[in-house]
Amino acid sequence: MDNTIEKKKVIFSGIKPSGELTLGNYLGAIKNWVTLQNEYECYFCIADLHAITVKQEPKDLRKRTLDLLSIYIACGINPKENTLFIQSHVPAHSEASWLLTCSTYMGELSRMTQYKDKSQKSGDSISAGLFNYPVLMAADILLYNSDLVPVGIDQRQHLELARDIANRFNNTYSDTFVIPEGYTPKEGAKIMDLQNPSKKMSKSEENPNCYILIMDKPEVIRKKISRAVTDSIGVVNYTDEQPGVKNLINIICAIKGVSPEEVVESFIGKGYADFKSEVATIIVNELSPVQEKINELLGDKKQLEEIYKEGAAKASYTANKTLRKMQKKIGLIPR
Ligand code: TYM
Repeated sequence: MDNTIEKKKVIFSGIKPSGELTLGNYLGAIKNWVTLQNEYECYFCIADLHAITVKQEPKDLRKRTLDLLSIYIACGINPKENTLFIQSHVPAHSEASWLLTCSTYMGELSRMTQYKDKSQKSGDSISAGLFNYPVLMAADILLYNSDLVPVGIDQRQHLELARDIANRFNNTYSDTFVIPEGYTPKEGAKIMDLQNPSKKMSKSEENPNCYILIMDKPEVIRKKISRAVTDSIGVVNYTDEQPGVKNLINIICAIKGVSPEEVVESFIGKGYADFKSEVATIIVNELSPVQEKINELLGDKKQLEEIYKEGAAKASYTANKTLRKMQKKIGLIPR
């Protein structure tokens, strides 16, 4: 009899608690984690150390960190089967990040488009943390020997860099890291801004009509969708000439798991008013039960504390093993 249990492949992903979560975060990341969780051994972190690359109000950061943990669980991530933890509770991330910083080139980091965009907005006071942020993300991923990293398209470049850093380390010091693959969903990988569908939906936009928040009330969702920019063509089609409509179709596809063709077919002969009303209903039906669960979970802080403490212990065990390996290979004397 074969007693060997096949080891599951590993997933790592995270979200930074730097603002309220949008529908983009939900469809680009969390919803896919929920689908993949049973097939993989999963580590999902709340990337608080990433959040502080831009200034955060301490009390808001604390609140959002716990909110995010409850969002993960409310969306359907099972805390018993997966490791949910707060990044700063596992010091190996910061330590490994330094070791990997020494295997990363300035040129690589200065080519990161997210850094270029954000630093333009920050003027002269750009933190070195913002510049180094992709190295910390590489540390997150590589410490767990992750096979798969489910993220939205905007994080693909950082993942590519993590792969380059891992390869460089392996070549310099012998095989240490698994080279991770990215996973981006077909239709939810880049949910666009509702007012400017050439830009990604982002929580940092000033006008709230640009985004849907996971916690938005039904009437707010309906209002925002009814105001979403479309075009003067007036027919529900899935084409680049109608980016606003295309984005709303992508939202339906990502929520319902249907194809764009199926959506287009179901709106033949119908105008944008009917279409938008249906989009809003689909979003409301998806988010309402999640919102209810989030509020319920936030009422039991003790339970959340147990979850993140247990998560940190499990994550530390794996992360520390990899960290020790890295230190030894580099030539640091074991303690
Ligand atoms: P963050 O917090 O900016 O975004 C979290 C996740 O949401 C996805 N996302 C989107 N997907 C589709 N459409 C959008 N409009 C949209 N906006 C955001 C992002 O692609 C991401 O998957 N550095 C990361 C967090 C992180 C991480 C990691 C991710 C830290 N360590 C290790 C993966 C692996 C970040 O800031 O994501």
